[in-house]
Amino acid sequence: MGQADVLVVGGGIIGLAIATELRQQGANVTVLSRDFKAAAGHAAAGMLAPSAEGLTGSMLELSQRSLALYPDWSRKLEELTGQDTGYWPSGILTPLFDSASASPTVLSQAAVHYYQPDLSADVTGGYWYPEEGQADNRALLKALRIAAQELGVDIQEGVSAEAFLQQNHHVTGILTTHGHQQAGHYVLAAGAWSRDLLPVPVKPRKGQLVALLTPPDSPYALKRVLYGEHIYIVPRKDGRVILGATDEDVGFAPHNTAMGVAQLLNEATRLYPPLADFPLQECWWGYRPVTPDEAPILGTSPCNNLTLATGHHRNGVLLTPVTAKLIVEAIQGQPDPLLDAFDWERFIGTGDAVGMAHHPTPAPPISPALPAVDPLGCASSTQPTSFPIPTTMQTLSAPPVTDDDALVIAGRSFSSRLMTGTGKFDNFETMRSSLAASGSEIVTVAVRRVQTNAPGHEGLAQAIDWTKIWMLPNTAGCTSADEAIRVARLGREMAKLLGQEDNNFVKLEVIPDAKYLLPDPIGTLRAAEQLVKEGFAVLPYVNADPILAKYLEEAGCATVMPLGSPIGSGQGVRNAANIQIIVENAKIPVVVDAGIGSPSEAAESMELGADALLINTAIAKAQDPIKMGRAMGLATEAGRLAYLAGRIPIKAYASASSPLTGTITGQ
Ligand code: GLY
Repeated sequence: MGQADVLVVGGGIIGLAIATELRQQGANVTVLSRDFKAAAGHAAAGMLAPSAEGLTGSMLELSQRSLALYPDWSRKLEELTGQDTGYWPSGILTPLFDSASASPTVLSQAAVHYYQPDLSADVTGGYWYPEEGQADNRALLKALRIAAQELGVDIQEGVSAEAFLQQNHHVTGILTTHGHQQAGHYVLAAGAWSRDLLPVPVKPRKGQLVALLTPPDSPYALKRVLYGEHIYIVPRKDGRVILGATDEDVGFAPHNTAMGVAQLLNEATRLYPPLADFPLQECWWGYRPVTPDEAPILGTSPCNNLTLATGHHRNGVLLTPVTAKLIVEAIQGQPDPLLDAFDWERFIGTGDAVGMAHHPTPAPPISPALPAVDPLGCASSTQPTSFPIPTTMQTLSAPPVTDDDALVIAGRSFSSRLMTGTGKFDNFETMRSSLAASGSEIVTVAVRRVQTNAPGHEGLAQAIDWTKIWMLPNTAGCTSADEAIRVARLGREMAKLLGQEDNNFVKLEVIPDAKYLLPDPIGTLRAAEQLVKEGFAVLPYVNADPILAKYLEEAGCATVMPLGSPIGSGQGVRNAANIQIIVENAKIPVVVDAGIGSPSEAAESMELGADALLINTAIAKAQDPIKMGRAMGLATEAGRLAYLAGRIPIKAYASASSPLTGTITGQ
């Protein structure tokens, strides 16, 4: 099959429904499906429960529209595939143990027990939602996949999307585990894994479920969904009874746990005691994709040919038909006004839209002349460009170096030779003032920590004015080459989304051990080779090993960054002799990174001939990070000037300051 019109990332219920709808409208569609079995749609119980779930506002409207689509949508799917979808408007009963505080429309105790005999005697009232119900989510997923296949959607199972390639807010392609692919339009429907590709605020929220079997000839055959206060019980027509679900903020932690299963069984038998004798058939778990406001992200993205359909949290099965309809209409240029309520932009400024800066028009260029961009969206590094320093920084920073002594990395010029970090500051205000005082123009950011909103990193991406500071995304936290490669790609997307379209820099850290934080030389070299191939300007963090530095230079790295001593240790430069050998042999800039604790050590490193320094902890953790920022800026500058000036040789004996030759002896 040739290039697709639309490439959908995600082969779960949302991705397949969108793909099927698009195909029915005549589009050539490809679906990348990392692992069909892991889709949240398999884990769900399939409840169609707008009111029972307590949805309100736009979420209620969206879900009611979807519920209204269900009868027709599921019937057409069944006709197309010959598969049952298990759509069953069975009604949902919400029994309450404490109905006293419920609204006046509550069912009486007698009524709720009439609707469902054999409930716990402690149930005192409830609600009845006759138009709500369920679909058999597994049957539905199977039907959708068959429909997509029969209609000619190219479903690529086992293919993971690794990175969107972008240029000027346009996706130009996608890197996958099976090579590079292109399409006219892209849809991100990767559920809880969406954040691996774009910095959208979607996290996994684990749910565990249990299935019981109604014993043959049981007098207790349930006919409607019971939505209790801490449990739901979903009876299927085939006698299975699904109990769900835990709600756990534990990331992608796998397995059913004893506590999770115990909670489900206890709550279920408390609400409907006859279940105690039902055989246990199956336990499983899955990951709901949750956003900060628990509503999905639907519609536009920062790229004009990328549509978002993710973050459906507890309501993916319910919202599938309406999502498919609205997303296809939006791709066709007819966005429904209801989509406005689900736009990703609602998270801007909340600290949640990590790295998702909005650029209705292309962001203003950072440098006067942006370098040309290659087909992979990587800046060409042949044209040196200058980097303007804002006035406020000039007044606070160390005295500027002479223009003919600029630091040039991958063709980009910088006046300051001090790079700084963003970790460990007490607050963003101090960080900003300290960065300004240091005069630093390159600031490194831990991509993974920003993406996961690690402590101290919530809103960090927005806290810095990236029109003035050049971002150096780093792969901190990566323990293997493969992980670092993935995070480097994400870092490039983050920089682009924050307006640095041509930023292809990455500070490569591959650090397998958490105690000494020492870099893995082999993993670093391997990752560097791959990233250079992908067009990155790679700045690898390494031990001060001259041979490794040479290999990295030969691999095409933009700098080499030997450590002075372990990260954050403040032990200064413990390996001056090796750093000197690296400096002597390198044709690329040598940046001393890690270990510098004081301005004298910063100056000493520069006097050795280092081209630049990267200092974080010694500034951020100083008693006054603003003064220390300035001190480090001055010291870097002083060390550089001293190196250029050439120090006097060290002698064994005194040498008088006033020369003795030519003095008057009185004879
Ligand atoms: N739809 C219910 C749940 O996610 O547990």
